[in-house]
Amino acid sequence: MPEDRIRTVLEDLERVLLRFMRHHGISHQEYRRATGLLLASIRAGEGSLLLDIFLEAQAADTGNLGRTGSPEAIEGPFYVPGAPQLSPPHILPQRPDEAGDILVFRGRVTGPEGEPVAGVELDMWQADAAGLYSNVHPGVPDWNLRGCFRADAAGWFEVRTIVPPPYEIPKGGPAGRVLAAMERHVFRPAHLHLKLRHPAYEALTSQLYFRDGLYLESDVAHAVRPDCIASLVRREGRAQLLARGLDRPFFEVRHDFVLAPRPPAPPVAGGGRLAAPPARTGPEGRRP
Ligand SMILES: [Fe+2]
Repeated sequence: MPEDRIRTVLEDLERVLLRFMRHHGISHQEYRRATGLLLASIRAGEGSLLLDIFLEAQAADTGNLGRTGSPEAIEGPFYVPGAPQLSPPHILPQRPDEAGDILVFRGRVTGPEGEPVAGVELDMWQADAAGLYSNVHPGVPDWNLRGCFRADAAGWFEVRTIVPPPYEIPKGGPAGRVLAAMERHVFRPAHLHLKLRHPAYEALTSQLYFRDGLYLESDVAHAVRPDCIASLVRREGRAQLLARGLDRPFFEVRHDFVLAPRPPAPPVAGGGRLAAPPARTGPEGRRP
């Protein structure tokens, strides 16, 4: 961020907050309660959570203005880099008796002209059936329901996991106290988190919600957007189970992503340029 923008934004933030304090007649005691709450949220490891639930969706919306391709979604406070790399058939790491219905999530990743984004990496994380995230909440094995995998040469991907539930954000700490004071619930609708990466395209942080799910209209983080909702379809036919080696019905969700090409790189010494998006040539390939 350029230094003049930093100064402009900070000066305006100061103006807005001072106007807010004058408008509401914020007392010294109330001011100290507010700063104490912010400090407590940081001490409780909730500094990002407290800001994310109120502000991150707006930052994502602003970033989506003029954006080509699939919209960016909030990342939330529970992303952890370095998830295990998976090999086909892709199955998110999970306990042998992982609770929850089986979910097969599949789709295709293309560029804006429909060209396949071959080998794009998908970095996925989600809550377990109790609404808990590994590497964050105690009692869940490290990297449970977190993994990185790649689409094939035609941009198709498929991964097996479990259907996540709606979950409560931590409500026993400062963020929960703020929401309780505002008489709001603390639920997020069921969702999957993803980051998509490819050297020739802009990285995309996304979330996928399920049509008709609880709390879609009242997400505590105000983050649900229509382009990030897909339908869960129950599959129970014998042939469908056999095709995936399953012995019980499962749910399937299909969602495609469109990535925006990176802007052209400036010329470098020797006349070379960084990698450009692949030409629109390859076949559509098989549907997984
Ligand atoms: Fe989440």
